[in-house]
Amino acid sequence: MGVMRIGHVDLRVLDIDEALNHYVNILGMIETDRDAAGNVYLKGWDEWDQYSLILNPSDRAGMNSIAYKVEKDSDLDDFEKRIADWGIAVENVPAGTLHNCGRAIRFDLPSGHEMYLFAEKKFVGKSVGAINPDPWPEDIKGAGVHWLDHALLMCELNPEKGINKVEETTRFLREVLDFYLAEQVTAGPNGEIQAATWLFRTTTPHDIALVGGPRPGLHHLAFFLDEWNDVLKAADTMGRKGVKIDVTPQRHGITRGCTIYFFDPSGNRNETFAGLGYLAQPDMPPITWTEDQLWRGIFYHVGEEAGSFTSVYT
Ligand SMILES: [Fe+2]
Repeated sequence: MGVMRIGHVDLRVLDIDEALNHYVNILGMIETDRDAAGNVYLKGWDEWDQYSLILNPSDRAGMNSIAYKVEKDSDLDDFEKRIADWGIAVENVPAGTLHNCGRAIRFDLPSGHEMYLFAEKKFVGKSVGAINPDPWPEDIKGAGVHWLDHALLMCELNPEKGINKVEETTRFLREVLDFYLAEQVTAGPNGEIQAATWLFRTTTPHDIALVGGPRPGLHHLAFFLDEWNDVLKAADTMGRKGVKIDVTPQRHGITRGCTIYFFDPSGNRNETFAGLGYLAQPDMPPITWTEDQLWRGIFYHVGEEAGSFTSVYT
């Protein structure tokens, strides 16, 4: 099958206690491990691998790396060859390089973001178990996010200098890692600039998204909720706890998801994302949003930029 889903994000945070309060008490993630370097490992209640988020104490915010899980160990050999053939340096790293994971391959996307592929991670199981499970656990905290759903990476886009890392990284993800294009934003004369893309390997509209900007970075990490009422309740929790909200609950045109954008205490943007949008399938025709409808695509109701969506990221 190749790539199955997003595995985890290694995220830098400025204050580990404040970050833990945010991700555990407000988002509802569960701490599952710590290591000697001070990294803390977290998962959503509906996830079965040991962690999907690493909190890495640091003096600056942002993402160290992003990892995707492949189905079989042999996929790693296939991808190692294909990535090298595409002209990107790829390193085979031994088991344990990624905490409690099997061997992995490491490389940089054309955008510059560090990525790992791995096939094995320590199994801990869902909070509700796998035998006659309840629909949700009793001891849920805050928003009670189910799982890490996707990440949006900012990629350098400078048409005047002929730089478009959105287009280059999208092509790499499609041609080498077998991602499918769900949606794109086109810009410029005749729409020839691919300015943003949403790509999938699961059956949801995106497992990764790329948006053009002045420099590479992490735009946001998104955590899954069931439905619109859960998004509203998550916003209630954020209001009660004084979380800095970037964009209050509303709907995306792109992916059709219901959303809130907000910041963790270090300034990393988070999203709670509800609804499966639509059934994404390899033969679905990709959806295109034209430049004049860009903001309708992002914030469907108001159709204009909200918060500091494009200007602030880590
Ligand atoms: Fe998102």
